[in-house]
Amino acid sequence: MLPVKTLVKAITRYLQAKIYDRPFAAHLGVTDTCNLSCDYCNLEGKARNPTLEQLAERLDLLDNLGIAVVWLMGKGEPTLRDDLDQIIAKANKRALFTGITTNGSILTKEVVTRYAAAGLNLMEISVDTYKENPFSRKSVEANPNFPRIIQHAQQQGVGCILHSVILPQQEAVEDARRLLDFCKEYNVPITFGFMFNSPEEERTPYNQSDLEPLLRLLEQEAKPGGIVLNFPSYFTKGQQWLQQPIEWSCEKTLVVSTDNHIDLCSRLSGKSGIADTITPEQIHQLQHTSYPECEDCFSSCGYQLNMFRTSPLHYIARYLAFSLKHK
Ligand SMILES: C[S@@+](CC[C@H](N)C(=O)[O-])C[C@H]1O[C@@H](n2cnc3c(N)ncnc32)[C@H](O)[C@@H]1O
Ligand code: SF4
Ligand code: SF4
Repeated sequence: MLPVKTLVKAITRYLQAKIYDRPFAAHLGVTDTCNLSCDYCNLEGKARNPTLEQLAERLDLLDNLGIAVVWLMGKGEPTLRDDLDQIIAKANKRALFTGITTNGSILTKEVVTRYAAAGLNLMEISVDTYKENPFSRKSVEANPNFPRIIQHAQQQGVGCILHSVILPQQEAVEDARRLLDFCKEYNVPITFGFMFNSPEEERTPYNQSDLEPLLRLLEQEAKPGGIVLNFPSYFTKGQQWLQQPIEWSCEKTLVVSTDNHIDLCSRLSGKSGIADTITPEQIHQLQHTSYPECEDCFSSCGYQLNMFRTSPLHYIARYLAFSLKHK
């Protein structure tokens, strides 16, 4: 259950963000070190690990900028930090809605208990496929402890959601069905997102005709009450995006990198300035600048957050429909 002060702050700041057209969510880079090497991960971290004090200062900065939601992540694996629970506690003390994205590979029940006690609100586990695959080690089969971890997090009051990067793989539909069955069995919702490439690569790694049946399946499972929490239009528009770049509005999320720069998403690193000196006016200006990197991108996170900004009630109704159906 969300603490009242976090809920009140989230609602107030959401409304302020809407009125003053500013971001309401941020990623805080806690590490660029990783224990896996997924083929598609082109985030090229430099193994930086800011200190707890530095992270506390960055949380203050984000809080002062009017952020309501903070996501602890980085270009690496946050659970590698032994003090992640202390970072969560610092965000929680500021009544920020706090989430992490993790590959889940080293999670244990004890660690999840510590995160829960520190006030973690949402844990997103990246699980791309059911079967092991050559692109990433983030599959259900590679992590037999996932059911225990998910159930334990839910019992401890930490919301759990999976995120799958859609891979250009054989038998994608068959694999997605197994992954969705897994989600239904453990009452854990899932979002799917297209892979983004580095600028020098082809615009999309997917074969359009291979992907169409998968996108149709996901669109079906994303109907209200379904286990897939994306808006169904992400998959309909995705079919158009496979053919050519499409018009859409990305909700840019503030990213404070491990070296204390503020970016507008992990793909736009180095476009803005040092976090300590950036002003809300500069952020506003950056948000409304067009970037070449955006042309071929169709980020699920940017799309979902935009839908949340434009139709929050629709979003909440979808979440309630899911909760009622999958009690
Ligand atoms: C950079 S990772 C950091 C957290 C953690 N290591 C993990 O994998 O969940 C954050 C998210 O970005 C996704 N990601 C990484 N590279 C990507 C790419 N090229 N396209 C789309 N998503 C990507 C990951 O799958 C993960 O869900
Ligand atoms: S686990 Fe996350 S950070 Fe590590 S290589 Fe894979 S996507 Fe990148
Ligand atoms: S469209 Fe893509 S590259 Fe541009 S801000 Fe959104 S996520 Fe980043």
